Amino acid sequence: MRICVIGTGYVGLVAGACFADMGNNVICVDNDNDKLNLLSQGIVPIYEPLLDELVKSNLEKKRLKFTSDLENAVKESEICFIAVGTPQHEDGSANLHYVFEVAEQIAKSMNGHKIIVQKSTVPVGTIDKLKEIISENTKYSFDVISNPEFLKQGNAVDDFINPDRVIVGADSIESVKALKELYTPFFKTDDRFIVMDIKSAEMTKYVANSFLATKISFINEIANLCEKTGADIEKIRLGIISDSRIGNQFLYPGIGYGGSCFPKDVKAIIKTGDNNNCEMKILKSVDAVNTAQKKLFLEKIINKFGNDLSGKTFALWGLSYKPQTDDMRDAPSIGIVNGLLECGASVKAYDPRAIGTAKKIFADKINYASNSYIALKDADALLLLTEWNEFKRPDFDKMKLLMKSPVIFDGRNQYDCAELEQKEFEYYKIGK
Ligand SMILES: NC(=O)c1ccc[n+]([C@@H]2O[C@H](COP(=O)([O-])OP(=O)(O)OC[C@H]3O[C@@H](n4cnc5c(N)ncnc54)[C@H](O)[C@@H]3O)[C@@H](O)[C@H]2O)c1
Repeated sequence: MRICVIGTGYVGLVAGACFADMGNNVICVDNDNDKLNLLSQGIVPIYEPLLDELVKSNLEKKRLKFTSDLENAVKESEICFIAVGTPQHEDGSANLHYVFEVAEQIAKSMNGHKIIVQKSTVPVGTIDKLKEIISENTKYSFDVISNPEFLKQGNAVDDFINPDRVIVGADSIESVKALKELYTPFFKTDDRFIVMDIKSAEMTKYVANSFLATKISFINEIANLCEKTGADIEKIRLGIISDSRIGNQFLYPGIGYGGSCFPKDVKAIIKTGDNNNCEMKILKSVDAVNTAQKKLFLEKIINKFGNDLSGKTFALWGLSYKPQTDDMRDAPSIGIVNGLLECGASVKAYDPRAIGTAKKIFADKINYASNSYIALKDADALLLLTEWNEFKRPDFDKMKLLMKSPVIFDGRNQYDCAELEQKEFEYYKIGK
């Protein structure tokens, strides 16, 4: 099939490369020329496992192209995906400016019937507005479909190629058929292609993310109660996940959820609730617990070292909001670093992939280490913020020799308390 994907970020690039890999002709459109220059040479500007190879091989086979020429891309395509960002406005609502702008451009570029697929996460009712914008700007017929994306950064290619489900919200049988044809190579069985009305599809994405965020805030709140009462969240976690109704995913206590989706999507559905006179009481608490959780970690450090951290150096392991990505959008590490700097501390950070991103955020306000052990030299404490694999089994004896004092604040509960006690580390974790 002939497809264009507008917006070549974490979602659009993965979708475009995976569709191309299934034999489709894909044009990826973006308005960021620096990004396009790199991509056209087969250089992927973000870190996402497997994506490099996929982009290179499909470029070579000429099934994948990168361009800023949206008009031509639309003219050459049967299906146009919108995958631009929907960041959050200050009041928490989704900023739909980019989506509406692209919809208008698509409409003005049409040369016949098109299927326009809304892949960005947008609030319920957005597609009604898209239909209005498009019909005001074209004389041709069109269908607009909702096809929210569920890939996880860090595992995006695999998630896209082996999806748990593909949700399609549509009001036209012909477009559903076209999307089914496009997605069929990604399924072994048909039951993962779920068709519904447009509004339900738009909402499904927010409901999935909000539920996952709820699990995280729930376990964090229980972890905080454990710290007050002497119970151990790790034992409790094991105790509850053995119940198959509860399940074992997304129940790890930590320093709060971050990333480009959960924080903004929870806020956006709260706003949708407010706009529809239906207060989202649980989700307001989920958001508030998360904001507090991000601050709590810093409070623990201040409790130990005092408000004035001048002269103190903190080693940071991990900056990205989760492992296997270089993305730091809304990462808990940002608030923690800023808090440490405000208290006068020095920070030396190491992350396997996110140093480039961190430099754009903190510039020379912090120091960057080329490996995890270099970060520890003369540190008053280590703060473990992202659970990258390479931090899981470190050489504690070597660490102790490098650090000024053997203190670890573990935001991801990676280590065994007994082992660290035996090695004479002062070890702080979440929920114990
Ligand atoms: N990142 C994720 O894990 C994820 C997962 C599922 C859904 N989503 C949703 O998908 C959407 C995209 O997310 P993302 O993380 O890929 O965003 P992103 O910021 O990485 O990418 C967006 C891209 O769109 C481009 N763009 C913006 N305006 C444009 C225009 N007018 N014309 C052409 N290109 C334009 C930007 O240059 C950028 O490359 C969001 O709605 C997000 O909520 C993201």
